[in-house]
Amino acid sequence: MTTHVDGYLRHIMGVCSADSSGAVADYIPELACVDPDGYGLSMCVHDGNVYSQGDSGVTFTIQSISKPLTYALVLSRLGPAQVDARIGVEPSGEAFNEISVDAERRPRNPMINAGAIMAASLLLPPVREVAASTVDSVFGELVEFYSGCAGRYLELDEDVYRSEAQTGARNRAIAYMLDSFGVVDTDPESALDLYYRQCSLRVTTDDLSVIGATIANGGLNPRTGRQIMTQEVAQRVLSVMTTCGMYDGAGDWVTSVGLPAKSGVGGGILAVLPGQLGIGVYSPRLDRHGNSVRGIDTCRHLSTDLGLHMFNLTRESRVTIRATYDIGEFEVGEDWTERERSYLRTSRDRVRVYELQGDLTFSGAEAAMRRLEDDIDRYDVAIVDISRIGIVDPVARTMVLTFKHTLDDRGQRGMVVDPDGVMRASVDRHRNDRVIPDIVAPEALRGFDPTLPHVHATMAEALTDAEAFLLKQRYGPDDGFDGV
Ligand code: DON
Repeated sequence: MTTHVDGYLRHIMGVCSADSSGAVADYIPELACVDPDGYGLSMCVHDGNVYSQGDSGVTFTIQSISKPLTYALVLSRLGPAQVDARIGVEPSGEAFNEISVDAERRPRNPMINAGAIMAASLLLPPVREVAASTVDSVFGELVEFYSGCAGRYLELDEDVYRSEAQTGARNRAIAYMLDSFGVVDTDPESALDLYYRQCSLRVTTDDLSVIGATIANGGLNPRTGRQIMTQEVAQRVLSVMTTCGMYDGAGDWVTSVGLPAKSGVGGGILAVLPGQLGIGVYSPRLDRHGNSVRGIDTCRHLSTDLGLHMFNLTRESRVTIRATYDIGEFEVGEDWTERERSYLRTSRDRVRVYELQGDLTFSGAEAAMRRLEDDIDRYDVAIVDISRIGIVDPVARTMVLTFKHTLDDRGQRGMVVDPDGVMRASVDRHRNDRVIPDIVAPEALRGFDPTLPHVHATMAEALTDAEAFLLKQRYGPDDGFDGV
């Protein structure tokens, strides 16, 4: 079944695809000749499930999105103290290729080229002559690390690598400037070579989303179960992505999008919602800062329309299903006839209850609704008990109600137990919010009609309603049954 999440992603892409401004990078022929209309979007959630839309399987070069990964690798190798002595963590407020160092002549952060070339240099041995075979083997380890994050072996684009190496006057200038300051311990040419190679690895948006989910997950790749970097390193990487990832627009980005992110001139953007999910977007037309125009717009929409800003604070957004069970433990209602009661005794397993807990946002609702969807053949009635939920954000509300609508359409039934009226409160609180799931939801659910049937104040009411539904299904109104 295509899920509602796929529908939301498609809707957002439909909105953003109207913008064809910007231009593909043309400083090397390999980037200049890509299809400017290519557009892919992937989202990898906490358990490794990947939603993929558009050109999510098209490969492009990772470019600057490699910077957080090499930084993570260097941190893993040398530890934060040694790395901090060589690379700062302050936003530079300047363009990515600015020749920018602090008072101690450290590159200001690892997300600008100076910091990234320094990071690459720190992977190499501290000698002035580095054998080509040594660069090869260090690059092999780097690919191993990146591939561990992506959960798939990543390959080098030889043509892009060759062109990057031939045209990189600015990067060469940066490397030699750092060398002239006496802060590069290795051969600057080898550091540059490693940097060009890392930028030339090919990825898809699916890969970026899994890399993002690995970082979001404290370094544990949710698809392979492998711990690729420590929790401390992942935390560091997220910090510098937050403050320095979007270069000169970092402040605006954190405020309006609130997702640690990194862009590359290949057209990719990696964005992370810490603790929850990773996002990969690809669209090669770039703005004057070298960021994908549609990629930026897509991230803005994902953040506002799906409530993904990292400071959209909630008590719980991941482990949302507290318990699930059938209604075997509940007595059959007393008001039915003996024939009805005996039928109901045999069909207790056709009603499943899903108890949710915490505060319900996109990630929690996604996990819960996917579970209900996976179980869809196991019940006729699904009762979603939200009595332990404190807050339902508008996205989660529409996701729950839309799933309920889907069940109704299939001849099943979805019910909600909402004693404190948190669904209603969510509508009141967010009355003027523009929420994509609301827009994509079936007409009947837009803005949530408070008279919507099957939203009950107590579990007892829901059970009676569920029993009435089973009886109607079994006997129908023509067989003497005149229940709900
Ligand atoms: O260093 C360079 O020039 C490129 N190979 C990578 C730059 C890049 O992706 C900047 N990001 N927006």
